[in-house]
Amino acid sequence: MPRQATESPKSRRTLQASKTAAKMLRPGRTEVRPHRFCLAYSITGTFMTQSTPRVADHPAHPQFLSRWSPRAYANDEISEQELLTILEAARWAPSSYNSQPWRFVFARRGTPHWTKLLGLLNEFNRSWAENASALVIVLSKTTFAPPGSTEEVAMPTHSFDAGSAWGYLALQASLSGWHAHGMAGFDKEKTRTELGVPANFAIEAAVAIGKIGDKAMLPEGLRSKEEPSPRLPLQALVSEGTFKG
Ligand SMILES: Cc1cc2nc3c(=O)[nH]c(=O)nc-3n(C[C@H](O)[C@H](O)[C@H](O)COP(=O)(O)O)c2cc1C
Repeated sequence: MPRQATESPKSRRTLQASKTAAKMLRPGRTEVRPHRFCLAYSITGTFMTQSTPRVADHPAHPQFLSRWSPRAYANDEISEQELLTILEAARWAPSSYNSQPWRFVFARRGTPHWTKLLGLLNEFNRSWAENASALVIVLSKTTFAPPGSTEEVAMPTHSFDAGSAWGYLALQASLSGWHAHGMAGFDKEKTRTELGVPANFAIEAAVAIGKIGDKAMLPEGLRSKEEPSPRLPLQALVSEGTFKG
């Protein structure tokens, strides 16, 4: 198919990177060439030279390396449709018994519920998340009715499943040109009261979604952290057959 006339050098490079990753991941391939699969992305998805590029030890798809959590947000408004697209991705996460225990309560900047959700965050998170475009509280249902039963029993995987949904949300945000930043720093009891959350739902995390802003707006201590962070080497996390710590 002929290339779109509007295709930019940036999107060509991104496409090329995806093709390279796909080629390296093709089924049956047992050996990966010994060079390191190194991709560094700027906040807009273009390649860049940066002091701490993210480097994959193995050729995972570039989308996993390009997602990151900024704090300098640009104060933009997000349409309901854009936000629902990000939440739609979360809907398709896997869960035990397909119980789909995740729930999301959102508020968009400039709407009546914004101040209420912003007021749930601790002071530190509020200081930067007030420039986000949407806030989302992630909850999970701690009980479920097993197949063939109408009686609710404890669902041990509710947090694990909600974590998958958050991961999907964050990746879709990044694929849609937004960023999602998870937060544990908020008042869970206040959240339960103010959002009317019943006892059989756990309050998991808060998320700030926005477009990147100027990091000069952040206090000095946070400015230097405003870039994609590295990870432990895979070999420190993975072992074959026996747990190695
Ligand atoms: C469940 C969860 C809670 C977090 N809580 C906070 C928080 O309260 N404040 C904050 O600034 N960042 C918070 N973070 C962001 C992490 O610090 C960040 O995801 C981590 O350093 C990895 O960076 P990256 O997301 O840019 O890859 C949280 C992330 C997660 C997933």
